[in-house]
Amino acid sequence: MTETLANDRPILAGEPSSFAVPAGCHALAVREVQHYTDTLFRFRIARPPEFRFRSGEFVMIGLPNAEKPVFRAYSVASPAWDEELEFYSIKVPDGPLTQHLQKIRPGDTVLMRKKATGTLVNDALLPGKRLWMFSTGTGIAPFASLVRDPETYDKFEAIHLVHGCRTASELKYGEDLVAALRSDPLIGELVEGRLHHYTTVTREPFPRQGRVTDLIASGRLFDDLGVPRMGPAEDRAMICGSMAMLKDTKELCLGHGLEEGANNKPAQFVVERAFVD
Ligand code: A2P
Repeated sequence: MTETLANDRPILAGEPSSFAVPAGCHALAVREVQHYTDTLFRFRIARPPEFRFRSGEFVMIGLPNAEKPVFRAYSVASPAWDEELEFYSIKVPDGPLTQHLQKIRPGDTVLMRKKATGTLVNDALLPGKRLWMFSTGTGIAPFASLVRDPETYDKFEAIHLVHGCRTASELKYGEDLVAALRSDPLIGELVEGRLHHYTTVTREPFPRQGRVTDLIASGRLFDDLGVPRMGPAEDRAMICGSMAMLKDTKELCLGHGLEEGANNKPAQFVVERAFVD
């Protein structure tokens, strides 16, 4: 497949792409790019006025750099009320999309398919007391959307955003997000005392270490937070991370008596994968 342009950058600001926008796609301007580490960055793009989605859903993202562009699923990290769309991405040197996407700058163009979908939505869960958001790596993205949505606080008393990464520097996106939320004039008061951010690191020294799954299995997560062990009466969960993490965390939810839900059959937990390679 011819997917690369000869130059170093995928699409130069202001330069029209020589490829037509594929049917069913929006071509959207990049507004902001922030790099966190060699492997992580976030970007914000213009939101088409007619584009509707539910917080927690994902869309397909590509670049106008080929006749048949490569698309990958990206959770929208901004909430449904935001006038821009935010995404949080890894950078893979040979990744068919991310090797190019990591080079975008404000003014460049990104393609987005028109339909949003996904299972990590409030509608797929029955009401409950605590909502657990279990994430690793870029799996925090859909939760970045949901923790900024007032609807999440209407439905649950307490929201526990649990994020596990290899290194402390990989936690920064989530830390910045939560800090901004707490000082936000509109939603800050709503999240006060109700949004709890629990971070853990696996590959370097950090105040809390260990995999999210091990912290659940040992009960340390619940002890640290002073809440009872997870159970079907009060707890609901959403899971987003690598395939292995999804599988292991799902087993733990089942083991704690929670039932898996879906859009058409709300229950006690839902699973999604952080797709991008
Ligand atoms: P570890 O360092 O022990 O592999 P990745 O970047 O590979 O997706 O990993 C992100 C974080 O998820 C790392 O802290 C990693 O821990 C952790 N992780 C990897 N596999 C699992 C799993 N099956 N269950 C829970 N956490 C996992």
